[in-house]
Amino acid sequence: MQPSGGVALDLKGVRRVFENRLAVIENLHLAVEAGEFLAILGPSGCGKSTLLRLIARLAEPDAGSIHIEPETQFQTAFVFQDAHLLPWRTVLDNAALPLELMGVARDERHGRARTALEQVSLLEAADRYPAQLSGGMRMRASLARALVTNPRLLLLDEPFAALDEITRFRLDTQLRELWRQRGMTVIFVTHSISEAAFLANRAVVLARRQGRIKLDRRLELPAERGNELRTSPELGREMRLLLAAMEEE
Ligand SMILES: Nc1ncnc2c1ncn2[C@@H]1O[C@H](COP(=O)(O)OP(=O)(O)O)[C@@H](O)[C@H]1O
Ligand SMILES: [Mg+2]
Repeated sequence: MQPSGGVALDLKGVRRVFENRLAVIENLHLAVEAGEFLAILGPSGCGKSTLLRLIARLAEPDAGSIHIEPETQFQTAFVFQDAHLLPWRTVLDNAALPLELMGVARDERHGRARTALEQVSLLEAADRYPAQLSGGMRMRASLARALVTNPRLLLLDEPFAALDEITRFRLDTQLRELWRQRGMTVIFVTHSISEAAFLANRAVVLARRQGRIKLDRRLELPAERGNELRTSPELGREMRLLLAAMEEE
């Protein structure tokens, strides 16, 4: 599969309000470069999922604009915390589902789904059903389904939050490797400071109220990130900066 390249995003004055309450997101400005790996951090309820849904065009902003360049059909993939697999379909047919919806012929979509499964180290489970998978394997299947269309923008909403730590570490490493190979733009929402710092090249910390950006930081960490980085002083330093921003009122 060819590297897809990433999209650039430009959010200007974005507002999102539910009913007559205080706006969840108010006057948000955020520019994301093509090929960036951005982590969005913030406490529960601060509007992270709302923001991701706006970027995915699953909802409309109440004010402001979201410009995506280039913007084409099927370029965005979304990964949720729950794998959302169809229980009556095999792993292969789950991974191939987006291609089926796009009208891709059976042989081609199975070939592409196998490639995607291979990239997340799940090819040997291609013929199994979701109930026969561990939580980590289900998330790998969900990732494969997201990658199968070769997206230029990958949005992940706390995807590994329910997994045990070692499984999460493995998936973090794999996701980062996939990003490096493909050059797609990744926006990764998490409430985990360590995960944001380990994965991303840039981290944005949102305030509890109105999606105000408290910190926007380019992380000073090596491109190559192995498990040794997890306990390194460099990562610790970045985590302290993110933590300070999270705690600041
Ligand atoms: N569809 C909706 N209708 C009404 N309120 C909503 C809706 N979606 C989210 N909210 C509210 O918006 C706020 C932000 O939610 P969310 O974006 O899910 O936060 P996060 O993902 O950071 O935990 C919360 O107060 C939530 O209750
Ligand atoms: Mg959320």
